[in-house]
Amino acid sequence: MRFNSVFRCACQLAVIAASFLYVGRAALGQAGAVHVSFDSATRVFRMDAADVSYVFGVNDLQQLQTIYWGQGLAAGDRFPAAQSGRGFTAFDLPINVTQHEFAGWGGGLYLEPDLKITFLDGNRDLVLQFVSYKTDGDALSILMKDISREVYVTLHYAMDAETGIVRRWAEIENRTGAPFLIEQAASGSFNLPRGSDYHLHFLTGRWAGEWSVHDEAIRGGKIVLESRRGSTGSQNNPFFAIDCDTSTSQEQGNVYFGALAWSGSWQISVEQDAFQQVHVTGGLNAFDFGYRLKSGETFETPAFYGGFSEHGLGGASRLMHRLEIDSIVPGAPHARLRPVLYNSWEATGFNVDEAGQIALAEKAASIGVERFVMDDGWFGQRNNDHAGLGDWYVNPRKFPHGLKPLIDKVHSLGMEFGLWVEPEMVNPDSDLYRKHPDWVLNFVGRPRTEGRNQLMLNLARPDVRAYVLGFLEKLLAENQIDFLKWDYNRNWSEPGWPTVSPDDEKSVYYEYIRNFYGILAQLRAEHPRLEIEGCSGGGSRVDLGVMRYVDQDWPSDNTNPADRLLIQNGFTYAYSPGLMMAWVTDSGGSAFSLPFRFLSSMEGALGVGANLNKYAPEEMATSKRLIAEYKTIRQTVQRGALYRLLPAEPDSQHSATEYVSRDRNEAVVFAFLLSQLEHYAYPVLKLRGLDENATYKLTAFEGRAMGGTPTSASGAYWMYHGLEAALDDSFEAAGFKLEKVSAGN
Ligand code: GLA
Repeated sequence: MRFNSVFRCACQLAVIAASFLYVGRAALGQAGAVHVSFDSATRVFRMDAADVSYVFGVNDLQQLQTIYWGQGLAAGDRFPAAQSGRGFTAFDLPINVTQHEFAGWGGGLYLEPDLKITFLDGNRDLVLQFVSYKTDGDALSILMKDISREVYVTLHYAMDAETGIVRRWAEIENRTGAPFLIEQAASGSFNLPRGSDYHLHFLTGRWAGEWSVHDEAIRGGKIVLESRRGSTGSQNNPFFAIDCDTSTSQEQGNVYFGALAWSGSWQISVEQDAFQQVHVTGGLNAFDFGYRLKSGETFETPAFYGGFSEHGLGGASRLMHRLEIDSIVPGAPHARLRPVLYNSWEATGFNVDEAGQIALAEKAASIGVERFVMDDGWFGQRNNDHAGLGDWYVNPRKFPHGLKPLIDKVHSLGMEFGLWVEPEMVNPDSDLYRKHPDWVLNFVGRPRTEGRNQLMLNLARPDVRAYVLGFLEKLLAENQIDFLKWDYNRNWSEPGWPTVSPDDEKSVYYEYIRNFYGILAQLRAEHPRLEIEGCSGGGSRVDLGVMRYVDQDWPSDNTNPADRLLIQNGFTYAYSPGLMMAWVTDSGGSAFSLPFRFLSSMEGALGVGANLNKYAPEEMATSKRLIAEYKTIRQTVQRGALYRLLPAEPDSQHSATEYVSRDRNEAVVFAFLLSQLEHYAYPVLKLRGLDENATYKLTAFEGRAMGGTPTSASGAYWMYHGLEAALDDSFEAAGFKLEKVSAGN
């Protein structure tokens, strides 16, 4: 259907507006409801949910302009019509003063554009104006058009009822009769109220050191968070949080936050303009990008999410977690809790075989593991990381009878069976590469840079897509596989695609990811019970885009239990503990007790990766006890509200997290002492999120509370008096459960 027939023309707005009536203030704040309204007199759009209001309007120049974003306002509040910015001097043209929802590059724009196009005739001026709008349930879309050319942009808005987080994306349609080149495409811009004391919080990292939290004052100019790596990367993660003044803390203060749902090269720019207005623009990375859009075609950007919390950085994280668990992950809002997993990688490396894996599986089952995963090494000539990727047949020397005996054994032990794959890669030493050297990303006649001895298959190619989907379908058809760990162990280099026209080569950044998502979507549709873990040599591809297709994420190859506290702290700024795999391994040696290792891993979705062949009977017994304990608290850990009581930070001596179940009937607390200095007592843990008047019973499932701590007390007691953990020595840990025993008065 053509837009013209679907969208309401601007001239009809007055009539349509009558159907959008404001509802009462109380109802606006109600969880579970989204209200979309349009004021035809002022041409102001408004979305309200979960005590957040998002307001924008059509200004006098027909541009779409942000009016208000933040804490929910009264239903009766009205806004004056949007007024385009007034240029103060000839150096700052009016267009640069306006807070655009979505701006084309043209008309003298110096700010980061949302869309930049080069037309065949060399014209590069794009000025978008409002045409019409449409509502579909809670969703709102706005049609914009260039002032003279048949370039249409539909801006989509959807507000999440539970969190008030706004999802935005754009569709660019070419009706000009000739192709044009999209050189830059963002999903949209979020604009913050004018202010001068904003701070950006963001995540950085590298292999085995992902998820460091940083902050930086926002001053005049631009801070760019990005990946030019072809995939999400860990140097930056596509997440931002911006606090409004220096008094903001974990639990207090206003915070704007958001994340981009894209697993390819991306960019989020945070720009303070010359008038102290802050614009956050997120979308595809424009570097080395180009997409030739033919007439009649539509290009869709990824989604960019933006939210607001008045409860500090912790509040922002909790809203992100809620959004992910309730509306993004497969099966949401009814996704399964994560099973306790065993993974062979750190125990056996590439030396996997039938007998060895069966022995590990028996041990894993005996301590309560629910899913056994065989990692790298089972296929082709994969005896180390120099060979085999691309040859997805079962290695006949290691598994002379195929995978069936192992899988049957794992199932007979009552566990699910999972398998490691790295579908997008090829080792030059493989049958696949010998047969199809042209299938990798490359520039003709140029070197092909290897990372971990491997090259990237060009998944944008239809034949490569068919090959990857085909081998995975065959693997799943021939074996009773319940779970795939989907790995991706390098970033791009030489991103050439020689078989398409030079005009289309740079679309590889987009087409690759589209095919990546397409394969995952098809596999999930064909195998509804299959679960998938997203992994990229650790946490290099965690984002809201791939999250629609994976049930859990591997945050880092670093499994040292103390380093992990930092890594997990950073991960949970943006992503839910319920998706965060955390294994108990042997990393870090004898400095760590087994309970410390377990408690560190119990902060997320528990797994075990230690060499169980070396565990003494007492260690097996401790593991069994703590796995059983974890199963009783995992609902709260994986679905509850996370409070960073003592955030893990570099150089911090302590760290403590609390998880409160949604019904506030249970809370779980983990407390870690990393280094004891001068015999100070462990800080008092002032719990959060409990029901003040209810009574909660305290149980220490590991370690203990200080002598004299009551076994039961009110929520108020635990929150205002606090809980004192008896932790005296470096690398000690304690775990507590609080259960509501009476509702109080
Ligand atoms: C990556 C993963 C590890 C493991 C190895 C196997 O590094 O992050 O967990 O699967 O590959 O080669």
